[in-house]
Order: sequence, then C-alpha cells, then structure tokens
Amino acid sequence: MTENEPSMEPVKGANTADRLAPRDPARYDRRFAARAAGIKSSAMRDLMSLTERPEIITLAGGLPDTDSFPQEVFDEVWHAIGRDHRASALQYGPTEGLLELREMICGIMAEGGAVAQPDGIIVTAGGQQAIDLSVRTFVDPGDVVLAEGPTYPGAVPSFSTYEARVLHIPLDDDGMRVDLLEERIEELAAEEIRPKLIYTIPNFHNPGGVTMSLERRRRLVRIAHEHEILVVEDNPYGQIRFEGEPLPTLWELDAGAGWVIHLSTFSKILAPGLRVGWAAAPAPVLRKMNLGKQAADLGTGTMNQRFIVEYLRRFDWREHVARLNGIYRSRRDAMLRALEEEFPADAHWTRPRGGLFVWATLPNYIDTTELLARAIERHQVAFVPGRGAFLDGRGRNSLRINYSYANEATISEGVERIGAAIDEMVELQKLLGGGT
Ligand SMILES: Cc1ncc(COP(=O)(O)O)c(C=O)c1O
Repeated sequence: MTENEPSMEPVKGANTADRLAPRDPARYDRRFAARAAGIKSSAMRDLMSLTERPEIITLAGGLPDTDSFPQEVFDEVWHAIGRDHRASALQYGPTEGLLELREMICGIMAEGGAVAQPDGIIVTAGGQQAIDLSVRTFVDPGDVVLAEGPTYPGAVPSFSTYEARVLHIPLDDDGMRVDLLEERIEELAAEEIRPKLIYTIPNFHNPGGVTMSLERRRRLVRIAHEHEILVVEDNPYGQIRFEGEPLPTLWELDAGAGWVIHLSTFSKILAPGLRVGWAAAPAPVLRKMNLGKQAADLGTGTMNQRFIVEYLRRFDWREHVARLNGIYRSRRDAMLRALEEEFPADAHWTRPRGGLFVWATLPNYIDTTELLARAIERHQVAFVPGRGAFLDGRGRNSLRINYSYANEATISEGVERIGAAIDEMVELQKLLGGGT
C-alpha cells in the first residue's frame, strides 16, 4: 500500500454491515479490469427492485404471469421429482444439459418447423446466458455487432462486457430494416470490416413489439449466406402469439447452412424462475459455447432441468401457453385502450400481435429518463426508458411498457399515471417557452 492510499482497515467497532462497507469505495476504481469498468447495466434489471415495492405499479419488467401456473401441476411435478429423481436432481449434470431435456427441446423447436438434434443443443441458464455465451464466443474488443435499434436491454451488459462495437439497424413495423442492414454491411466491407454477429429478435421484438416479415427473414438469411456473417436469432416470444400465423424461424430458413445460432427459453412459455433456456448452433460453435459455460457455471441447475422434463412428460405445454396468451391478449388490449386515452396526441406506439411489450415514442422534447424519475417519485409507476435499449445514446424520447405482469385494472391505472407524468412535462415545457 502506498502512503497516499486510503486505509483498507475496517472501521473499528462498527457493526458487520459497516465493516463490509469500506471507507473509500473509490479504491476499487483503479483496480477494476478495463472490461469491468466499461460494463453498462441493463435498464430493466436496475428497475427490478421496484417490483418489491407494493406502492409502485411496475410496467417495467418483462415478467410473465406466474400466478397462472396451476398449483396442482406444480405439486405433482415437485412430488415426482422427490419420489423418482431425488438423488439425480440434486447431482451435477452434463454441461450441455440433460439429454432428455435436449430431446424435448428438439420437439418444441419442431413445432415451429425448426429441425435440430439433441447433440446440436446446449441448455443454458435462461436465454440470457445463451446471449452471453454467443457474444463471448465470437466478440473480441472492438468487433462490430449489428443489432436492431432498439435492441433487447438485457443484451447491453453482454455487448459491453465483451467490448463489442454495436451498430444499430433501424426497426419498423416489419422488423429490422434489412435493406439498411445490407447497406451497412457494404459500407463496413469498404473499410475491410466484417461484422462478427447480427443479433436479432424476429418475433414480437423486445422492446420494439414488432415482428419481422417473411420477405425480410428470407433476405436476412440470404445476406448472412452471401456475406458469411453469423446471425444470432433470439426467439423467446415465438409462442407468445395472439394474432396472425407463425412465420418460419431464421434457423429454419438457414436450412442447416450453419449461419444461424438460434436461442430460446422456457421463461416465457413456462416460468422464468427456472432459469432454463437453450441455444441450437453448429457443432464447432456449440463446443466453444460449452467451454464458456464450463467457465461460467459448469451446468444449468439439474433440479430446474428436471422440473421441466417432468412437467413436459405429464402436461401439454401448448395448453399452458394458450392460457397465457389469452391472459396477455386481454392485457395488451387494456394497455392499447389506456394509451389511446391517456397519452398525448403526438405520441405513437406499436400494436404488438404477441410478446409482452409496447414501445411508445413521445414528442422529442420529453426525455423518458427524466420522465421515469418523475413517474416513480410523484406517481408511483415505472417503465423502461428507451435509452436502455440503445448503446449509442438514442431512444431518449421512447419507452417500453409491459402488459404481461399487472392485471387489466392495474395496467389502466399505470398508463393513466404515466400519462399524468407526461402532462406535467408538457406543461413544464410550455412554461419554459418551448413549443409542444
Ligand atoms: C429478447 C430476450 N432475450 C432473452 C431474454 C432472457 O430470457 P431468460 O429469462 O430466459 O434469461 C429475454 C427476457 O426478457 C428477452 O426478452
């Protein structure tokens, strides 16, 4: 320790909490790895603690309705694990996940027309880890990742941890503007840069609420093949559909050519507390992802994998999803009605046909990060400010609002409260002499 360095000694006589809180938290700043210093947090995770404050209506998280998971189903699955699989459920398992579960995952993928083999799957700790392993496997500091703008706020910590240079491709009602994607790839090629990954959420985008058209899916896969760029297709919401016909996944359109990594999860079709997701990928990619997972956690919790296997053996997940979709459809409708009534005429928003989110854009003088502070403090309501869905500072007048967690009355009340906070900011703007 140098002379100028503050003491590392704990405060004498302090209680445990004080002893654990160093007198000089800044001491760590010069010790953090450069990588750690640059990690950006996920806006939605930052707001998660608000769910524990009952006075706050939170339309921020992407929380599924876990109340609708039937008690008797839960009890039966739990009992079966205890009776038939106690020792193995408590045991370590293979890094790539239980074979039985990987076989069942192939069955679920086949429902959507996607062909995969169990040895082409790795089970992960949620879809989130599948994103992290994909980025970790391919991205060196400074490597270009092309992602929709807005993109999934939860991918932001992974992109920043591995120091990706994320370039956003605009999104419209038909999903990613793949024409602009192609232009961007060609511009980069002129600088001799080949993007490492294209990260996309084609179905019921989070946060954008839109779905990529079939024509764009085909074009995106063609671009990936022509330019030899890997696409990470993140598909947590493919089954959370209220309207329209399912479209083929990019994985299916790739037809085994090996330019798509397909990610999905049990979080939205069963329960996020299980923390079980998966990746389907070409064998050499899976081997590297497996190594990354060995480093991260050895393997996904065996107990949780077993819960899913025993559930899928006994019950029809499609029925559960159909029930969930009915609930979410009504909640989406409640949200769209409330937005119509409560948001200013010059605001606009998406009308999702599935998934969990509406993406709204307000007049450009409203900063939604400021709006959030006001909304929480004065109106006890939370949402995700749009800036959390970009890595380049954009999104300041947009917001993501969730309709899967709160019931219809609470959604209406929550949107009304956000509307009241917006009205106050509009008034403030008028007072300050700015145009509206
Ligand atoms: C687009 C997207 N990818 C991945 C995830 C992570 O899901 P999981 O709970 O399976 O980690 C989410 C969760 O909201 C998501 O919206």
